[in-house]
Amino acid sequence: MSELYSKHAVKYDQVIQANIYNAMYDFPTMKTLIGEVKGKDIIDLGCGSGVYANYFVQQQAGQVTCIDYSAEMIELVKNKLGNRVNAYTHNVAEGLPFVADQSADLVVSALMIHYLEDLAALCQEVHRVLKQDGEFVFSTHHPFADFECSHSGNYFEREFIRETWDTVGEPVEVVFYRRSLAEITQALTAHGFVITALSEGDVLEEAKAICEKTYQYLTTKPNFLFIQATKC
Ligand SMILES: C[S@@+](CC[C@H](N)C(=O)[O-])C[C@H]1O[C@@H](n2cnc3c(N)ncnc32)[C@H](O)[C@@H]1O
Repeated sequence: MSELYSKHAVKYDQVIQANIYNAMYDFPTMKTLIGEVKGKDIIDLGCGSGVYANYFVQQQAGQVTCIDYSAEMIELVKNKLGNRVNAYTHNVAEGLPFVADQSADLVVSALMIHYLEDLAALCQEVHRVLKQDGEFVFSTHHPFADFECSHSGNYFEREFIRETWDTVGEPVEVVFYRRSLAEITQALTAHGFVITALSEGDVLEEAKAICEKTYQYLTTKPNFLFIQATKC
């Protein structure tokens, strides 16, 4: 796991609450796909510092379960939300062994699935823990955007990518999987989901005042992909 989410967790938490990519692009688009959460039992996979969990609690969701590989992130969630959520450290690549069958109305995963090699296995587990008609809503790197950092030049081949990001004001190495749009959609449809909504994101207009160049980029090119899939 990248040090971005461990060593730099505190700084990461501060930055993503006001930056363009998370606060003005990912979060508002996800909120639209997530819809009403009041009374819903929600599992947040790769919950990070709890930005989404905090929103769910404020919106009077039912039981909120936060899972993240990073102990530092889970500590932040516990400090912020205490016993209002059930938060624990776990590598989602190993499945969801502590989550009961058909126990969640909604599984949310913002910007986490690209850290997993086996997306099909995740979809199978998410399907198991969702109630009938439950929803899986996630965001991830847009396959077309990620293809720009391909070394193989083969769009259809899953690829392990190493990059350096400046998210926290200093360069930090991040590794993730680049995959095709077909791999993402087939992982869902082969494991009992119907894709009920798909978005390429809507950046808030207020981002323009922060960085005109990034605003122009996000209004003219796809960067993240957002999917709402329903268990059938
Ligand atoms: C880009 S951050 C997003 C955090 C949060 N969802 C948000 O949007 O604010 C990705 C998160 O996924 C977590 N993560 C990465 N790989 C994971 C894995 N295999 N299992 C669980 N969490 C993972 C990281 O620790 C990090 O907190």
